[in-house]
Amino acid sequence: MAEGLISRITGPVVVAEHMLGAKMYDIVTVGNEQLNGEIIRLDADEAVIQVYEDTAGLTIGESVVTTELPLSVELGPGLISSIYDGVQRPLPELVKQTGNFISRGVTIPGLDHEKKWEFVATVKPGDTVGPGDIIGTVREYHIEHRIMVPPTGGGVVREISGGEYTVDDTVCILEDGTGITLMQRWPVRKGRPYRKKLDPTLPLLTGQRIFDTLFPVTKGGTAMIPGGFGTGKTVSEQTLAKWSDTQIVVYIGCGERGNEMTDVLTEFPELTDPRTGKPLIHRTILIANTSNMPVAAREASIYTGITIGEYFRDMGYDVALMADSTSRWGEALREVSGRLEEMPGEEGYPAYLASRLAAFYERAGRVTCLGTDERMGSITIVGAVSPPGGDFSEPITQNTLRIAGTFWALDTTLAHARHFPAINWIKSYSLYLDSVQEWFADHVSEDWRELRERTMYLLQKEVELQEIVQLVGPDALPESEKAILEITRMLREDFLQQSAYDAVDSFCPLDKQYWMLKVILAYHDAIMKAMDRGTSIKLLLDLPVKSEIARMKEREDVNDIKAILGQIDENMSSVEGA
Ligand SMILES: Nc1ncnc2c1ncn2[C@@H]1O[C@H](COP(=O)(O)OP(=O)(O)O)[C@@H](O)[C@H]1O
Ligand SMILES: [Mg+2]
Repeated sequence: MAEGLISRITGPVVVAEHMLGAKMYDIVTVGNEQLNGEIIRLDADEAVIQVYEDTAGLTIGESVVTTELPLSVELGPGLISSIYDGVQRPLPELVKQTGNFISRGVTIPGLDHEKKWEFVATVKPGDTVGPGDIIGTVREYHIEHRIMVPPTGGGVVREISGGEYTVDDTVCILEDGTGITLMQRWPVRKGRPYRKKLDPTLPLLTGQRIFDTLFPVTKGGTAMIPGGFGTGKTVSEQTLAKWSDTQIVVYIGCGERGNEMTDVLTEFPELTDPRTGKPLIHRTILIANTSNMPVAAREASIYTGITIGEYFRDMGYDVALMADSTSRWGEALREVSGRLEEMPGEEGYPAYLASRLAAFYERAGRVTCLGTDERMGSITIVGAVSPPGGDFSEPITQNTLRIAGTFWALDTTLAHARHFPAINWIKSYSLYLDSVQEWFADHVSEDWRELRERTMYLLQKEVELQEIVQLVGPDALPESEKAILEITRMLREDFLQQSAYDAVDSFCPLDKQYWMLKVILAYHDAIMKAMDRGTSIKLLLDLPVKSEIARMKEREDVNDIKAILGQIDENMSSVEGA
């Protein structure tokens, strides 16, 4: 165990000398108050430490002691519905013990070590178990928490029995004498192992039309949501946390203003899961490091979050991880790097920004888990990015762009026009379209991709036509193009706009999305045909069925939407007969 002395203090960074024997990434206790910190650089016997707590009051000469352990999280029953800070200290406990979130020198374990859990064994003495094999289960709310052999363990089971256990109790003893407990520990900076990464062929369904139909992300995929202040990053992340078809959600509130996070912390526990009717928090782990909390803990928060996510992935679950916002994480990295007097890269960010970001997103994926039972799990990362002034050319946006598979570009103009979600359909893209096409063809309709492409074509055409209208006025357009402008208006208002606060429309099932689009495009086909036969566009654009189309969002029964196809035909024959 290395023990040294503080020789320098600069904000969240402390230098200690006489630290011979310390290891890189060791956790240390710093000073008389025993603040927690992590060694982030070693030069001979000098250690540079980032401290997870406010360093005010520390003085030179106070001692620094290594724990000889890397920054780790506790993984086991009790994680679900927890609210943690960036280094897995339970926030409600912190508040109880110290009265605020920014207390110092307090070590509270991530899991409750007193609580007893009902363990049901699923293997028996004599069975051989290997890394990742499930040996039993614990029920946590409606979730089956699967107790696994740690990634490096395994052997023949000598003893195992169900019953009431704390997370520290041994529930299973192997022939070689090793005990397995309900809890594991894992160093957060290292991805948990899996057997094999799989191709991303399953879409992550979000109930949001612009995401699912136009720019899908996959289970195990990565998406970024960049946007200026007030464009809808937080609302989007929360909507996804509510509606994504995953069993587990890890929500990282990273460095945003304290009041914004307080909203999440007070509102989230009140929300119900629209699918199961159960409290949404019963499938969620919240990690909160607001802007007034120490920057080093914020830097750690995304690793704490993804490690917890990977643990549930390893059980065979689909996990969605939301990070709001990765820009604040990047700023924490920049601040610590600045204190280290490292050579700054672009806009003061360290040169390793790109590789750190890539390493984080690389931990997403759909995998075959460790273990002999061929189970699959996934972790999808959705990172919000808040570029200063909404300028996408800055380093965090640019570096994330190179990595993320789906790009949901928020747009200040759309937000000002109250078009929500304010996702710009021209700038956004998904690289997963080809990979999920087959799934949509099998589960929604053969012509899903075709409808999607036609929609995109029309929306792109609209931009061109609007430029012409700006220059020479609407009368210059041929009738067929006037019709396109009317259809794209309907696409924008009746399809793309979707309020996160509407009781019915906040979630739109996939078949409803499909039929809504089908109806709008069928209306386009019908008026084009009628125009070919010489019917005037004036008659065609004022058909009563249009108000039905505008109200599709409100319909809960898809059959009511399908019925509009018949009404389109009736409307057409009535004007054409006239
Ligand atoms: N999908 C949406 N539906 C309805 N309103 C939205 C939606 N997205 C954003 N808004 C509106 O925009 C405001 C700002 O969104 P927010 O997510 O807080 O922005 P950001 O996190 O990007 O600063 C919200 O308070 C809400 O009024
Ligand atoms: Mg926000």
